[in-house]
Amino acid sequence: MTILWDNEPGASDRYHFALGHVQLLGSAPLVHRALDDDAQSDLVVIGPMVNLDEASLLVESVRGVRPEVGFILLRHRLDVTTMTQALRSGFREVVASDDAPALSDAVRRSRDLTARLAGHQSGGPAAQGRIITVFSAKGGVGKTTLSTNIATHLALSNQRTVLVDLDLSFGDVGISMQLMPSNSVHDAVSMSGSLDGEGLAQLVTHHEASGLDVIAAPTDPSLADRVSAQVVSELLRVAAAHYDYVIVDTPPSFTEHVLAACDVSSLLVLIATLDIPAVKNLKLALETLDALGSPKESRVIVLNRADVKVGLRDEDVVQAIGAPIAVSIPASITVPASVNRGVPLVLESPRDPVSVALREIADKHIRGRFGTPVEDTQRRSLFSRRSR
Ligand SMILES: Nc1ncnc2c1ncn2[C@@H]1O[C@H](COP(=O)(O)OP(=O)(O)O)[C@@H](O)[C@H]1O
Ligand SMILES: [Mg+2]
Repeated sequence: MTILWDNEPGASDRYHFALGHVQLLGSAPLVHRALDDDAQSDLVVIGPMVNLDEASLLVESVRGVRPEVGFILLRHRLDVTTMTQALRSGFREVVASDDAPALSDAVRRSRDLTARLAGHQSGGPAAQGRIITVFSAKGGVGKTTLSTNIATHLALSNQRTVLVDLDLSFGDVGISMQLMPSNSVHDAVSMSGSLDGEGLAQLVTHHEASGLDVIAAPTDPSLADRVSAQVVSELLRVAAAHYDYVIVDTPPSFTEHVLAACDVSSLLVLIATLDIPAVKNLKLALETLDALGSPKESRVIVLNRADVKVGLRDEDVVQAIGAPIAVSIPASITVPASVNRGVPLVLESPRDPVSVALREIADKHIRGRFGTPVEDTQRRSLFSRRSR
């Protein structure tokens, strides 16, 4: 059942198109009580006239006890301050109150996420280890640089490694490694439900120079929509059963594909840079991960272009995000140069300071963590901790 917190008469009718039948309530204590009384209530939509501070307090108090409950905030006007406060408090979405289609979409996404979280709480299948997702909510910060180089270095170190490009619309792993993939993540769709080692082998393109296998993004961006989150989970789980390491490159937002990847990952590599928007996005991403129940100890934060002097210092970033930086990567012209040549930097110039830092991520933070046999109990999903 969906709860609508709104004081205006006729509110249930106004949003009927997007929300269907709702329980209309007029105050935070009433919403609280309704959530306590009914475990089936898993979506709360908060009307445009409700005070944001009061709404935020409610979300903050509920999200620790019932993380599967989705909150959507309606506002007459969307502005950055409101969005930031709302997302920080744990709202899943902020939607303009007169945009019924956007509200419908937000409701659908929230229900999907609730269903996935509920699946985990009832003890969904245990994930295998060694799926590592490289993520940042901002573009151009170095996700593809990190994922291709970390994966290449692991492959060069004789670890069976596959790199999966989940930036399904704009993926550039193939091109930055000079590969000509004939298949892509999209080809997993037709094998959905029965993907096995043989099927997996058909999806990969082999990078001769390093021994790395790559599953590329589709060349046609419109195919991204045809790949469901379920296909992504299946693909990554099957890959984890056949390789030592599965490295996942991502688009710059929490798409359903990214959530599915985080969900089966044992480690997230998150990227910061020394600019305010990137730090803000990282902070929001960390808070979103917290709200989803992802354990802090399964994250490694990397500062890319760490030596660029732009007014922000490492300490400012650490203070803003409230988490330590594991590795700092310097800025260097050698990085775009290697991308243009289509040869990963760790392969082309292993002594370059950027390569040294990238190897440190792979050797210390990935192999150091997973290199020794991992007990099954330790190989758990990032989100499974809530189910304990
Ligand atoms: N440490 C670095 N020094 C210099 N250029 C870098 C560095 N890291 C990334 N770049 C460049 O920045 C651009 C964006 O990097 P990329 O890895 O594609 O980011 P993302 O995948 O997050 O969008 C690329 O041109 C890349 O060569
Ligand atoms: Mg990229």
